[in-house]
Amino acid sequence: MRIIDLQTADADLQTQAAQLLHDEFNQAKWDYSWPTLDEAQDEIREMCDPERLCYAAIDADGRVIGWIGAIPQYNGNVWELHPLVVAPKVRGQGIGRALVHYLEDQVRGRGGITMILGSDDQDQMTSLGGVDLYPNVWEHIANIRNLKGHPYEFYQKLGYVIVGVYPDANGLGKPDIFLAKRMSSIDKEG
Ligand SMILES: CC(C)(COP(=O)(O)OP(=O)(O)OC[C@H]1O[C@@H](n2cnc3c(N)ncnc32)[C@H](O)[C@@H]1OP(=O)(O)O)[C@@H](O)C(=O)NCCC(=O)NCCS
Repeated sequence: MRIIDLQTADADLQTQAAQLLHDEFNQAKWDYSWPTLDEAQDEIREMCDPERLCYAAIDADGRVIGWIGAIPQYNGNVWELHPLVVAPKVRGQGIGRALVHYLEDQVRGRGGITMILGSDDQDQMTSLGGVDLYPNVWEHIANIRNLKGHPYEFYQKLGYVIVGVYPDANGLGKPDIFLAKRMSSIDKEG
């Protein structure tokens, strides 16, 4: 597996990346995000804005097996990790981890301090879904459980911490879970 810059990759590789996005997220559990290949291709075009970052994992046959992007915020202090997908047939082999680590190195190289991301729970994949999170929102977060393989635990394994939640972001009982990770050590800041 090797990682390439998707922004400068040829159109065929970009289409493969769009297909992966469409195939994964056009499901009930993701509320049918990117319901057409065209919309997924629009996302790739947006992620090819030179202000943003966008990388793909390529297998030995030259096929796209995963990709990741990031969007700068707060003058580049913060980068939003968005989106991330790995092809179902190669999951659990460290490709997601490799993509996140690669992206983190790129963000660090640009002076980024914090990576953030929002991970929706639209299908009661966690104990934060399908319930009223008010008024004890932080109690719910402290006791979160993964019920159906929600990716928040993937990010936790990579050092990300849950820093909050938007209750009802995607409709009643469908929150967006926010995670963050510091990209540089506090010592270097001072
Ligand atoms: C989440 C996703 C990117 C992970 O990619 P992957 O290549 O399978 O992940 P890795 O093999 O690098 O896994 C790294 C670790 O996280 C764990 N992990 C991966 N997905 C997990 C999940 N959904 N829940 C809990 N743990 C998970 C792995 O078991 C592994 O743990 P280990 O270090 O103890 O062995 C992939 O499953 C995917 O594309 N899912 C659908 C799309 C998605 O959820 N995108 C993120 C939206 S915010």
